[in-house]
Amino acid sequence: MVPPEGASVEAEVTIEEIRQVLSTMPDGFFGANLFDHREASAASRVICNRSPFRYYGPNCTNEADLFEAECSRYFGSRYAHTTNSGTGALMAALHALGVGPGDEVIVPGYLWIADCNAVLLRGAIPVMGEIDTTLNLDPADLRRKINRRTKCIIAIHMAGAPADMDAIGRVAGDYGIPTLEDFSQCVGGAVAGRMVGTIGSIGIASLQLNKMITCGEGGLVICNDEAYHARVVSRTDLGNSRVGDAVDGSADVNLTVGEGRRFNEISAAIMRVQLERLPGMLTRLREIKRYIKSQLRNLGNVTFRRIVDEDGDTGSTIAVMFDSPAERVRFQDASSSLFQRGELQTVGLVDAGCHIYYNCETIVRKVPALPGGFPWSLPENSNSTNYSYDKGLLPVTDSLIERTISFSIPPDITEVQVDAWVAGFTAVCQELDAA
Ligand SMILES: Cc1ncc(COP(=O)(O)O)c(C=O)c1O
Repeated sequence: MVPPEGASVEAEVTIEEIRQVLSTMPDGFFGANLFDHREASAASRVICNRSPFRYYGPNCTNEADLFEAECSRYFGSRYAHTTNSGTGALMAALHALGVGPGDEVIVPGYLWIADCNAVLLRGAIPVMGEIDTTLNLDPADLRRKINRRTKCIIAIHMAGAPADMDAIGRVAGDYGIPTLEDFSQCVGGAVAGRMVGTIGSIGIASLQLNKMITCGEGGLVICNDEAYHARVVSRTDLGNSRVGDAVDGSADVNLTVGEGRRFNEISAAIMRVQLERLPGMLTRLREIKRYIKSQLRNLGNVTFRRIVDEDGDTGSTIAVMFDSPAERVRFQDASSSLFQRGELQTVGLVDAGCHIYYNCETIVRKVPALPGGFPWSLPENSNSTNYSYDKGLLPVTDSLIERTISFSIPPDITEVQVDAWVAGFTAVCQELDAA
């Protein structure tokens, strides 16, 4: 067992011993790290039934239907619908909200590129919002960015911890603008007992590789609104509503152009096992994160990211902020010299590629999503020429990104590895103090 909060690691260990233990530490890949015979037998159940198709075929075991019902129960949403990817889920949710040409969608500057891409594919323009020390959308800057074009807000719960949904909800409510929660990186997170994804108007999650629960590729949309749900179902399929395994060709109010983003039964069967694992994984990660934070609290150079609800943090990621970019660089240099093979597994947010707005070529270079410059060149978006997405657009976000490092806690980390990680991190801080 991890010692209780307040206990400390007393044993004298050498850096070489720490390195050795850390070199055996698994990567922080969450749900995929826990794959075993249960996921294998779920997948083979579908294969043995020769029924990998959602909606069609003989012996259908309705894994996607069952997973969706289980998601509704777990997240506490009236509806849940699976898609082929998180991007597909974003596209479907933006369709449900009616986002299109002439609209602006506010997205935090610490993001994933898919959030911008989906907005562009809908013909709308992403507008960048600052983040705050939660590393999620800053409600005060959000208020400043809203104008008459704002159609929707995407609150992305980044790196395992919820955004300040109460404050964001107040801003959204003041202007009557719907909020799409992207909880891809925070599945199982909550704010004051409400699961992320269910607090705003509609929620989406990717079920891709480095997510809390995963089947490799997949997406999920959850909501309480019947009309949103119906639009999501038809858009991710053929464009018609479904009644059982038939499409409704009559006076269908949800008739649209289908995007063919159906989930598949093998993935759904795997996801059902992953969802069962989620509560146990959350308990474990939260326990480890509390312990690690309690051990690091007395190190002078450590400030943790602000967590809006400690009980609702997934516990998946520790994010530490330094006073300046130079301090962060000093930490990383000291870490690389003590742990030359990257055994500590800490990464600078600055190296997070397309998680940072100014690294997303699609917006920075205004790459057309369709021939003819769509959506940038559309007359409805004529004001988009005013937008720039270059570094410097969001000074607060830029500074936070340059000052922060993070560590993804593998759910299968052992207690010995946890203690080695704490000892390794402490050793790096002591190097800095001594310098
Ligand atoms: C926050 C966030 N949103 C959306 C996505 C897109 O998901 P996918 O790769 O399944 O399309 C990801 C995937 O990494 C993500 O992290």
